[in-house]
Amino acid sequence: MPEHAATSATNSSSTPTTPAPTGRRAVKAVIPAAGLATRFLPATKAVPKELLPVVDRPVLQYIVEEAAAAGIGDVLLITGRGKTSMVDHFDRQPYLEQRLEEKGDAARLAAVRRPAELAEIYTCRQGEPLGLGHAVSYAESHVGDEPFAVLLGDEFGDPADPLLPPMLELQSRTGGIVLAFGEVPWEETKRYGIASVTEAESELTDLGEVVKVTGLVEKPDPADAPSNLAVLGRYILPGHIFDAIRRTGPGSGGEIQLTDAMATLLKEGTPVHAIVYRGTRYDTGMPLGYLQAVVQLACQNDDLGAEFRQWLGEFVGTFAGRST
Ligand code: G1P
Repeated sequence: MPEHAATSATNSSSTPTTPAPTGRRAVKAVIPAAGLATRFLPATKAVPKELLPVVDRPVLQYIVEEAAAAGIGDVLLITGRGKTSMVDHFDRQPYLEQRLEEKGDAARLAAVRRPAELAEIYTCRQGEPLGLGHAVSYAESHVGDEPFAVLLGDEFGDPADPLLPPMLELQSRTGGIVLAFGEVPWEETKRYGIASVTEAESELTDLGEVVKVTGLVEKPDPADAPSNLAVLGRYILPGHIFDAIRRTGPGSGGEIQLTDAMATLLKEGTPVHAIVYRGTRYDTGMPLGYLQAVVQLACQNDDLGAEFRQWLGEFVGTFAGRST
């Protein structure tokens, strides 16, 4: 288990410098998962929102599967009180496995074993949820000075169109910060980190719709937003982000914001790039997005999909012409 990283907000004496590209790819991921999930109460009173099921597996398993598919086999979960069952999901269950083996239920046996086979899971406690930057600071002793990925636990994309591989490659080329952006309706800018951007260097554009970031602001009002390009919940960060977080005071919502720490590094010369993502994303952090994710993924499910789609079509038909 990693030790608790120092999280004081005092000034550091070390001077951050522009990183040189190392060619090394991030091999560890951090998943901040200590939040209280008040939007889902009472469902999340005793069950962490990360374990809410989307069709046949919890949200968190989709996220760890995404990391594993990108070659990341070391995952640090930043957890909080009452969330230990998240870790249990990635443990072996010998008794259950034995019963399934005896019954000859090979498919369920494989499904039960799969979470434990995806990655090495480490955990660390965030005593108080004081913001995303604060949560990420707990990863310092686990990841050290190496680049690492941060995957927010309430959103994920289409596995057929993965975001992490080009982001990891881009970060190994720049040595800086790599983000993913999605275009959002302007009235929603106050839910996200928002960026101003310019054209990226031509040698980076083979990796997708790559942009160079010139500014970052957390949750601006639409009137103040520099664009409608929102920071999605995937980040590849260099090890010196921890120093910047230490130098970051409370920002939007009174919290220690990762966006503010990244904005500091940007001003100090760290290259920041992003890939604009135009594929499907599932945002399970809000009840409506969660329900949409369940319906969309149920429609695509190999076992249930055909029957569910037929039922859904008929069910939706019963609403035709009704306004409420
Ligand atoms: C966090 C980040 C924000 C980012 C968002 C993506 O906000 O602070 O910059 O755009 O995740 O989901 P939160 O959703 O935790 O308020």
